[in-house]
Amino acid sequence: MHLKDRNRKLNRLSFLTFLAWIALAGPILGQTGDSHADLPHLEKRGSATQLIVDSKPFLVLGGELHNSSSSSIEYMKPVWPRLAAMHLNTVLLPAAWETIEPEEGKFDFKCVDGLLQGARENNLKLVFLWFGAWKNTYSSYVPAWVKANTERFPRVQTSDGRGTERLSPFSTAVRDADARAFAELMRHLREVDKSTHTVIMVQVENEVGVIPESRDHSLIANASFTAAVPSALTSFLQSHRTALDPEFRAAWETAGGKTAGTWQEVFGKTSLTDDLFMAWQYATYVGHVTAAGKAEYRLPMFANAALIRPNYEPGQYNSGGPLPHSIDVWHAGAPALDLLSPDVYFNEFAYWAGKYARPDNPLFIPETQGGAPGAANALYAFGHLSAIGFSPFGIEDQGNVPLDLVGITSERLDNSAIVDVYTVLSELAPMILEKQAAGGVAAALIEGEAQRSARLSIGDYTATMTRAGGTSATRLAAMFVQTGPNEFIVTASGDAQITFSTDKPGPSIVGIESVDEEFFQNGAWSPRRRLNGDENSQGQALKLHATDLALGRTYRVRLYRYR
Ligand code: DGJ
Repeated sequence: MHLKDRNRKLNRLSFLTFLAWIALAGPILGQTGDSHADLPHLEKRGSATQLIVDSKPFLVLGGELHNSSSSSIEYMKPVWPRLAAMHLNTVLLPAAWETIEPEEGKFDFKCVDGLLQGARENNLKLVFLWFGAWKNTYSSYVPAWVKANTERFPRVQTSDGRGTERLSPFSTAVRDADARAFAELMRHLREVDKSTHTVIMVQVENEVGVIPESRDHSLIANASFTAAVPSALTSFLQSHRTALDPEFRAAWETAGGKTAGTWQEVFGKTSLTDDLFMAWQYATYVGHVTAAGKAEYRLPMFANAALIRPNYEPGQYNSGGPLPHSIDVWHAGAPALDLLSPDVYFNEFAYWAGKYARPDNPLFIPETQGGAPGAANALYAFGHLSAIGFSPFGIEDQGNVPLDLVGITSERLDNSAIVDVYTVLSELAPMILEKQAAGGVAAALIEGEAQRSARLSIGDYTATMTRAGGTSATRLAAMFVQTGPNEFIVTASGDAQITFSTDKPGPSIVGIESVDEEFFQNGAWSPRRRLNGDENSQGQALKLHATDLALGRTYRVRLYRYR
């Protein structure tokens, strides 16, 4: 056959194959008509897992609204432009079951549509929080027709037989009604947002778990508790043994490392076993709801955890939530979830956030403290833990909203430091994202007055950050982005100084070749002063200032080595 004819035949064949592929792949790709690659999705890039939006990595510089703000389009009108002016690129906000399904089977998406419009007009992305069956363990956001019908929608019961205002995760009626409503929400988002991608992720439920006891004592829960641990979990334990969370693995192995038996036989007669039992139940429930939503519209989805106060027992904290010791149970029970997220309000940010930044669980922080501590934590999360996103809670507190409009009595936070850090981070984001993947970004965090110094390693160098004498800030951070073998952009959130050393082969002493302060102007970072005198102890240290972020100042540091 002539080469041209053969090529023509081959082209016709590949065209036919292509048509057949479209026909087959249509249903697989979902009813979206969009391929997975077009939708916001997570992608492993080098050592980091990143959120890809409109084909580009995206750093979520977010903030979560107070719980009730998004129930009113009117209330949100003046809030949107303020959030955009704060240099947020994403807002996390509830979508409540009671709002979208006030009557069973009748869906109302007016509020959701108004929120999408507000976000779009202000160039903001959204992460919806599905306030379905649970919000902070309670079921306060379920529709009245669910709340009132305790026969059809049973509650978690205490050991003395009392009901609580928490739907039981053991009820398939609850689960199916919740999943149906969530699927409707996702179907609607697909219809109205599949080409715009305003919504980039979805949180499924909010801070689930049981309080005030360590487990549900309803009849169906009791029956499950004395039944065998599902083999889906025991086989996961065996296949993932070496990668399990150490506390979880120790509990299992201390109880004998059994691969079959009841919950107490496999994990021991402790209250932690009650927690793991509930974790499996919540995970399989949330996994089911997530899968129902993804079948309609496949956005990245996650579940969030309320963390544990020191010395709290299961039931004092949310027993069964996606906590560090039960991440593996959740992974086994809810494979449809893309990640598990901590709501970090405690001062030990590095510890808690670090527990969730695992190779099998990229870090996303949907709720955390804002203000100056939040600014330091944001640098650490993005720089050291390759976080996908960061989001202080009650973000609309910044600005002129009177407290009675916010509707809570707690003190309002001054989020100006978040505005400052987001202003700088939004300019650095493309570089940070590129370097997260290539391993060229690092950060150090000093937490608490007792801690004087912290270290980071980047390229050939070790940077030691020491708190400057007399600084009043208890928490400070510095982030390094590597721009050449010996060159770094440094962003900091406190008064500190940094000295440099190396443990790599070659000349062992590190000198500072130069430090330039840089400001973002007219679309680029441009240098202003060269700081090689008193400002940097004649080149012996890089000095960082609490005012740097507010000024929009970063430093370009060049190092060299000598003997
Ligand atoms: C954690 C919850 O997830 C939020 O919805 C909100 O209630 C905050 N706590 C309040 O601090």
